[in-house]
Amino acid sequence: MAKKGAGPKSQLVDLLLHTAAALGVESDRELAALAGVSIDNIDNWKSGATQELKVQTLAAIKDGLAQRILELREQARALGESHDGGLLALEIEEGSSPVALQRQFHDRVTWDYLGHRFLYFDSQGALAWENLMRAGCDQGCWLKGVDACAQQLIDDGVIDKRRGLDLISLGPGEAAKEALIAARIAALGLPWFAVALVDVSIPLLVSGTKACRKRAVQVLPFCADFEEGPLSFARRLPTAHHNGVRIVAMLGNVFGNVRDEEVLIRERLSSLIRPGDLLWLEVALRLERVEDDPLFRMTLPARGELTAPEANRRLLLEGPYRRWDAAHGRRPSDLHTRVWVRENDETSRVPGSLNFCHDLVFEEQRRACTMLYSRRYDVSGLSRWLEGLGYAVQATVPVPDSQKRERVVHLVARKR
Ligand SMILES: C[S@@+](CC[C@H](N)C(=O)[O-])C[C@H]1O[C@@H](n2cnc3c(N)ncnc32)[C@H](O)[C@@H]1O
Repeated sequence: MAKKGAGPKSQLVDLLLHTAAALGVESDRELAALAGVSIDNIDNWKSGATQELKVQTLAAIKDGLAQRILELREQARALGESHDGGLLALEIEEGSSPVALQRQFHDRVTWDYLGHRFLYFDSQGALAWENLMRAGCDQGCWLKGVDACAQQLIDDGVIDKRRGLDLISLGPGEAAKEALIAARIAALGLPWFAVALVDVSIPLLVSGTKACRKRAVQVLPFCADFEEGPLSFARRLPTAHHNGVRIVAMLGNVFGNVRDEEVLIRERLSSLIRPGDLLWLEVALRLERVEDDPLFRMTLPARGELTAPEANRRLLLEGPYRRWDAAHGRRPSDLHTRVWVRENDETSRVPGSLNFCHDLVFEEQRRACTMLYSRRYDVSGLSRWLEGLGYAVQATVPVPDSQKRERVVHLVARKR
């Protein structure tokens, strides 16, 4: 509120002028634009005629300052990238470092469930994943599908062009898909756009960060465990401090790999996904005949040569245990991989889903231990299930493989 006469500047106005100048907002015109006021107001601020700010002016100033800080950060990042001499910074969450994961593996190795997060966190596992991708898994089709889905979300207005956006990808691996999405969204010129990559695999995180940075977007790489970790990376997201939207993505059937989908949604993602935010799942579809699924061959007794993807998959699954054995100076365990179909049990609770369960079988110890769940879903069953958990489905985009069979679907849902 402007007072008639001039007097000493209020402390609040003084602080504002000082902070704005420190952030490089020098001229009255720039300051007026930042605060969303006319230039006359600036005269009043400087002369001391304004002692108190209107509520809406204060809100506009807070937004303006936050926006300015983001811009400076973005400039610093771009500058840093051109001068970083090949250095890449990433943040490692307490309890998710390679050493912490190795310790957890050691503690749990006699349990009956280890899970997929132990598969890729060391460099050998990451390499096995990259080989699997190269060995013909229709990756080109899946990349096309992601791109098509991103474009559809833009065309249908599911992505609001007026609001800043954080794309948070859980388990991005080498983030080839996130890089495509980033390119599409970056072209929209949103108020801000950041890509957070959350993965326990540092080797894959490094490749993923580089892939996304090529798209000239702000990338925040976090080595963090989204299933069991504290999710403290959420405090670093721009949306933790500014009004904007989050898209939490789980691509490449990572959702179908977690131990318990309901626990994930109810207990883990509930703090990350706020009302109005989006959940973007890319999942494998359940085919009409389970025998037509490429994984089905692995459920049968081995006959002749394994295909390259099958051989890579076995190496990937057995690798963590074999390396742990070797690191402890043991004689290699007599183990093999068993893949079997589970349905209507506690591991496939989403209606219509089934689970290709990948176990390590230790003959001598007469026990088995699960390394990976790989579920297949029925779109309508999954949609209904998500609706029941407070989501409204916004888009479903099926993706055909190289033989024109729909094997994958993107399902994007908004939290109500
Ligand atoms: C199958 S790979 C990459 C999938 C990738 N999104 C794609 O579409 O190709 C799964 C990734 O999830 C990561 N991952 C698995 N469980 C995780 C967890 N609990 N926390 C963080 N990352 C995890 C793995 O390290 C791996 O990089």
